[in-house]
Amino acid sequence: MKAVRFSRFGGPEVLEIVELPDPRPGPGEVRIAVRAAGVNPSDWKKREGLMDEELPQTLGYEAAGVVDVVGAGVTYVGVGDRVFGLAGAGAAQAELAVLSFYAPIPPSLDFADAAALPAAIETATRALDQLGVRHGCTLLVNGASGSIGSAAVQLAVVRGAHVIGIAGPRNHAYLRSLGAEPVAYGEGLGERVRALAPDGVDLALDVAGSGVLPELIGLAGGAEHVVTVADFAGAREHGVRFSRGDEGRAVHVLGEIGELIESGRFSLPVAGTFPLDEVAEAHRVSKAGSHARGKLVLVVAPAGVYG
Ligand SMILES: NC(=O)c1ccc[n+]([C@@H]2O[C@H](COP(=O)([O-])OP(=O)(O)OC[C@H]3O[C@@H](n4cnc5c(N)ncnc54)[C@H](OP(=O)(O)O)[C@@H]3O)[C@@H](O)[C@H]2O)c1
Repeated sequence: MKAVRFSRFGGPEVLEIVELPDPRPGPGEVRIAVRAAGVNPSDWKKREGLMDEELPQTLGYEAAGVVDVVGAGVTYVGVGDRVFGLAGAGAAQAELAVLSFYAPIPPSLDFADAAALPAAIETATRALDQLGVRHGCTLLVNGASGSIGSAAVQLAVVRGAHVIGIAGPRNHAYLRSLGAEPVAYGEGLGERVRALAPDGVDLALDVAGSGVLPELIGLAGGAEHVVTVADFAGAREHGVRFSRGDEGRAVHVLGEIGELIESGRFSLPVAGTFPLDEVAEAHRVSKAGSHARGKLVLVVAPAGVYG
């Protein structure tokens, strides 16, 4: 099968489409013919050697496609089903991928829509679970307009939380449409949040990693009320929990999201699609951070089309 791989760290030019052995699903896993795979900011960070030392590396946490092999013990889905989910071992940006955690694609979504979901909704749900977000609490989300942030806003609203979202001004109407009260980032952030929540907030989630953990701690009344998914160094410095998927994933949301989508209570836009062999351009757009709101997605042609 064809897959995206890099064998040395560097710019987008180190990305290659290579031929790799077809993967086999283990017990409880499924293999899919990938039709779309999500692109995440961690992809370019990994490619630049900023996150781990692994070489060579095949990228991709999330994908959507059609089941072509089921592992031992799988009864929930079968060959031919449309599914989306998370690749526990990575390597989802390929013609075939093994999904460890998966669910049927909600009926109204196409493959690209579905591939945009897994990492954003899992990361958002994990962080909300770790914070203990529940009905009636006030949650502050830093980076609320991004893919994880907008997922966190919507899922917190579904839980009955009052959400204040920090984002750039061009995204404030978008945040209101998701059910959050928007505030702008930058100098004076604390005062702007206190104008909406004079006693501070109950909980805060940092998705932007923009260096505001001290402000979030002050607003939430202590580091124990704050979680970050994006500021590893700041978390260590300020005693804040850094949430990472390898410590336990909130995969329950994969099976729950369909009902929220079909009832109009959740959506995550696709900002742009790229053919698998244009992955380098997807990395450039992702790193520039200049894409319209939503996820970048690689569209994978059926096996045999490339090369
Ligand atoms: N720990 C984990 O398990 C995990 C898993 C997946 C991803 N991540 C990390 O999570 C982060 C976010 O990923 P994503 O996919 O949501 O990114 P994204 O879709 O690119 O969104 C980033 C958002 O950050 C906002 N932003 C930029 N500068 C800001 C500032 N100074 N203050 C507040 N917000 C600011 C932008 O808002 P505006 O456009 O409104 O300016 C943008 O919408 C990345 O660092 C990624 O590596 C962590």
